[in-house]
Amino acid sequence: MTDAQAFITLTDHEKNQQYKLPRIKGSVGPDVVDIRKFYADTGMFTFDPGFTSTGSCESKITFIDGDQGVLMHRGYAIEDLAEKSDFLETAYLLIYGELPSAKAKQDWVKHITYHTMVHEQLIKFFTGFRRDAHPMAVMCGVVGALSAFYHDSTDLHDPHQREVACHRLIAKMPTIAAMAYKYSVGQPFVYPQNSLSYAENFLYMTFSVPAEPYKINPILARAMDRIFLLHADHEQNASTSTVRLASSSQANPFACIAAGIASLWGPAHGGANQAVLEMLMEIGRKENVGEAVKKAKDKSSGFRLMGFGHRVYKNYDPRAKIMKKTCDEVLNELGMRHDPLLEIAIELERIALQDDYFIEKKLYPNVDFYSGIILRAMGFPINTFTTLFALARTAGWVAHWMEQSSEPQMKIGRPRQLYTGPAKRDFVPVEKRG
Ligand code: CMC
Repeated sequence: MTDAQAFITLTDHEKNQQYKLPRIKGSVGPDVVDIRKFYADTGMFTFDPGFTSTGSCESKITFIDGDQGVLMHRGYAIEDLAEKSDFLETAYLLIYGELPSAKAKQDWVKHITYHTMVHEQLIKFFTGFRRDAHPMAVMCGVVGALSAFYHDSTDLHDPHQREVACHRLIAKMPTIAAMAYKYSVGQPFVYPQNSLSYAENFLYMTFSVPAEPYKINPILARAMDRIFLLHADHEQNASTSTVRLASSSQANPFACIAAGIASLWGPAHGGANQAVLEMLMEIGRKENVGEAVKKAKDKSSGFRLMGFGHRVYKNYDPRAKIMKKTCDEVLNELGMRHDPLLEIAIELERIALQDDYFIEKKLYPNVDFYSGIILRAMGFPINTFTTLFALARTAGWVAHWMEQSSEPQMKIGRPRQLYTGPAKRDFVPVEKRG
């Protein structure tokens, strides 16, 4: 919404000139300053490494108020969705903008379920990896390879193909994540069972073996679904921005999501769930927590409290609160109420939240702080945690990809830079170089 009256005036004292920059209002949240004509008008670029103050796109999908600890998808609070909705319904909401009617929900679940199998030849991709490959490496490769298998859903200019790509990606990610795990432990791949729900099916493909019957635990299946829902979208984070940037060149959707998976892998982003667990194990005992907090405050140590801090949240991450509750439910169900890692995590949170360093810098637990404890208790090896994040975030990536692809004029993303390298100089032949 541009308000014709709203401008920011910028004065360049060096050139004695003034520029008027339009100010644009969103539906909620901070206004933005429109700098699209800034270079043309001033001959200067803006400079914002890390995008701390830059809005990269317009979006109607997710809103975060980091100071208040608020997260909403299409206007619905994450707390309400986590309690009253489920992952697939939330994915529909992210993609189509509204909660589905009963009939629309039934059709949507049917569409997703229809696509749960992967092309049989994809098995060869899995078997080409070393058994000890990180599951995220396998997932990156296999998802990128989907574009070599599903040619009838790679044209982003065709709305029908876009929709089929979206169904395929959401449907196949649990199968791919489960296969990556099965391959790493040397067990046979388990085909999806379409009578099961999305989360149940994932648990079944991950933990069942052909030699034994597998009984789904409804409490664990509900917790799995909630973990997926809590990770479904988080506006313009690094991986979603990567998907948008890749897609802005009109690359096919499978390639774009593979790019998102690669970006998610790092420990500052989705890889933090693995890093938190490794950190808790390294701390080892409740008594060592004080020392770990001290080390995290010492910049020269290179150590940070993983699962703490967030670029946007300067308050408790609302997802972390729900995750903590889910953690209690799962550990109760599994008779692990006194999990030593949970005790270390609780102590760490308690000490950090009273510490001036963390209070001043507004560093609170984020979504990854408790998720690893739940996943480990459910039986997932630590190196699979980030594949579960990727599986869930695919809903958000796809929603953003759909939103961007349906814009009438999609512009290629092309940031500029502050160049500080050498100015023009003459080439020196090799025999004359010192
Ligand atoms: N432990 C200790 N100090 C920290 C931490 C931490 N976890 N996080 C930030 N700080 C300090 C940092 O040293 C800096 O101090 P100073 O201002 O004195 O230089 C200040 O707080 C601001 O940190 P920053 O790195 O400039 O903040 P950022 O917004 O660029 O980074 C972050 C955000 C999430 C990468 C960072 O907080 C971090 O590395 N956290 C640990 C990793 C983590 O849990 N990541 C998951 C994020 S949530 C899920 C997701 O998005 O995927």
